[in-house]
Amino acid sequence: MTSAWQPRPDLWTLDPDVLHLNHGSWGAVPRRVQELAARLRAEGEANPPAWFRSLPERVAAARSSLARSLGADEDGFALVPNASTGVTVALETVPLRPGDRILVTDHCYGAVRFAAERFARLRGATVVEVPVVLSASADEVVAAVSSAVSAPRGVAVALVDQITSSTATVFPVDRLVAACRAAGVPVIVDGAHGPGLLDSPVPAGADFWTGNLHKWSCAPRGSAGLVVAREWRAATMPPVVSWSEHADLPGRFDWQATADYVPWLAAPSSLSVLDELGWPAVRSAVSGLVADGAALVAKAIGGAVPDLADPAPTMRLVELPSFVRVEDKAAEEALRVRIARDARAEVNVAMFGGRSFLRLSAHAYTSAHDFELLAARLPALL
Ligand SMILES: Cc1ncc(COP(=O)(O)O)c(C=O)c1O
Repeated sequence: MTSAWQPRPDLWTLDPDVLHLNHGSWGAVPRRVQELAARLRAEGEANPPAWFRSLPERVAAARSSLARSLGADEDGFALVPNASTGVTVALETVPLRPGDRILVTDHCYGAVRFAAERFARLRGATVVEVPVVLSASADEVVAAVSSAVSAPRGVAVALVDQITSSTATVFPVDRLVAACRAAGVPVIVDGAHGPGLLDSPVPAGADFWTGNLHKWSCAPRGSAGLVVAREWRAATMPPVVSWSEHADLPGRFDWQATADYVPWLAAPSSLSVLDELGWPAVRSAVSGLVADGAALVAKAIGGAVPDLADPAPTMRLVELPSFVRVEDKAAEEALRVRIARDARAEVNVAMFGGRSFLRLSAHAYTSAHDFELLAARLPALL
């Protein structure tokens, strides 16, 4: 196992009795950022009217700082509470007529696919799913999407992942965006896992990109960005109709009625914590750690680490042995709960292409010992 790596459990408030190997689902917020958020909430409770008066300026400052950190054009960078909102807003904006097709791949996040299905229902369109095999090379992913967007019956909008959820794979998003644009098809990039995992998460040329700050960037939950290409800015409206209705983008997303604005205000301090940690170097150490850890767990349970062309930097799949049957969402959740209870370990369980996997995540608090303990505890309970 990677030996030079020194985890930093002191920065977090995570329960030391639990093996935290599912950062990819809900993130984790550093202690210092939680403290800042608590101070901001206390300030709000000390004088609510004064707090709400102070927000426009503070939200705009946080927004600009986050846009700069992500390398996004500030004029097209709006704050949203989560990637699901970002995708919903984008789907609401693109024109869809009866008979139109919305393209997704079979790696699409389940709830995002529901969003595509909702807009298909509302507009009389249909969702078409492009299959991409788990072991697909970048060229194969691009070929699958390119041939679907340039098919004669055409596609009105494509929705592609930057880093897939259940299969923990980095898609060649720049090339996918270029292929969609070449076919004249607007493209929405679901970059929920991009911030914190990719150095430049905002792809040039995407019509819409959305990414969560509350996953790998460790911001308080409820902080995400939506980047809108120039040609869509006038038409892109925030999810809640409120006093900012007649402002321009991105400012019109800043005011979403009476709500909790603390996550947006505290998000830049998470990025500072990661900067101070030297996150890009830490991330590559963590990447080695999770690769070694997954191999260890796979060996212990008689499973296998599937060969992916470009695995997510800090997540790895371990295929479950065939005697462990996970056939639907309920079984997925039941196994997650059993592992949490009996192995005191938080992991994700996912199905893809009729196969079942554990998805293991690591961040700056993860140690080799976490994987060793998981490998020791799992065989008895599978
Ligand atoms: C690929 C992908 N898209 C979208 C989401 C939704 O994120 P949120 O619940 O923060 O909107 C997730 C969450 O895990 C995800 O993995």
